[in-house]
Amino acid sequence: MSRVRDALRHPFWQAVLLLVAAWLVFRFGIQYVPPLFGVRSAPVPQSVMLQYMLTALVGVLLYVSDNEARWRRFKEPITATLVDPGKRRLRVALLVLVPALVGFMTYRQARPSVSAPIQLRSIHPAPPGEITFRGQSMRLTGLENPLRSGGALEEHVREGRRVYYQNCLPCHGDRLDGEGHFGHGFSPTPLSFTDPGTIAQLTESFVFWRIAKGGPGLPREGAPWNSAMPAWEDFLTADEVWAVVVFLYEQSGWQPRRWEAGGEGEGGHE
Ligand code: HEC
Repeated sequence: MSRVRDALRHPFWQAVLLLVAAWLVFRFGIQYVPPLFGVRSAPVPQSVMLQYMLTALVGVLLYVSDNEARWRRFKEPITATLVDPGKRRLRVALLVLVPALVGFMTYRQARPSVSAPIQLRSIHPAPPGEITFRGQSMRLTGLENPLRSGGALEEHVREGRRVYYQNCLPCHGDRLDGEGHFGHGFSPTPLSFTDPGTIAQLTESFVFWRIAKGGPGLPREGAPWNSAMPAWEDFLTADEVWAVVVFLYEQSGWQPRRWEAGGEGEGGHE
């Protein structure tokens, strides 16, 4: 017991203890909450940790070197470890351990990480008012899904399901949740249509535009953008795209957003 008390009075062990305590406080005591990504709390970033720890180290060094006697006592165990004939084993052990630790930390830093980087991007950039679909110009503003006013809805759903399972499944998944087999390979990941933040927020013409033009058709404000979403106008007819739109809403249970009466740009905001 008295050895522990002695150690606690020794400036070297005090310094070690202070540094460990500082690390614990920085690591677990501070909750850094970014308002963006829906993350509840995250640890202090590593670079900031390093800065905090350096600051703590400077403080500790100021303390141990505050007067000559304490400074000398602080250096005692260090000098002893380096030159004492009796401490040979410890010296050899440290000589192996310290480079191994540094090597391990370097390896951990340099190892390629498989998790995709967080991207700040505009997920739903403003669509153009007008597009060309397979060479035909098409006005998106105010456009309704033509299939909703012609033919049997069940038929459109069946057609849309076929289109979906033949083309969209590998990325957007069996349950429309963006968890298709290939989904994890992409950053940004394929969007989940069951999420209230995607098609539930959109008009059918917006969804049509996204399917028709895919990642390549996204405007500049979507950047940095490397969406894997293909441009389906090269492979599907307009009716097939409208059908898959119907299918997405039927299957997910969401209602498409409606155009406000009067249309956009005509002072239609109440
Ligand atoms: C190669 C993978 C891949 C395939 C296949 C694919 N998508 Fe996507 N899709 C994505 C990715 C990645 C995103 C998210 C990035 C983006 O918005 O461009 C996305 C986004 C979307 C969006 C935008 C949703 C929103 O909220 O803005 C729609 C709609 C969509 N896909 C529909 C489809 C349909 C319908 C098909 C099949 C005809 C399909 N996708 C096939 C990868 C794919």
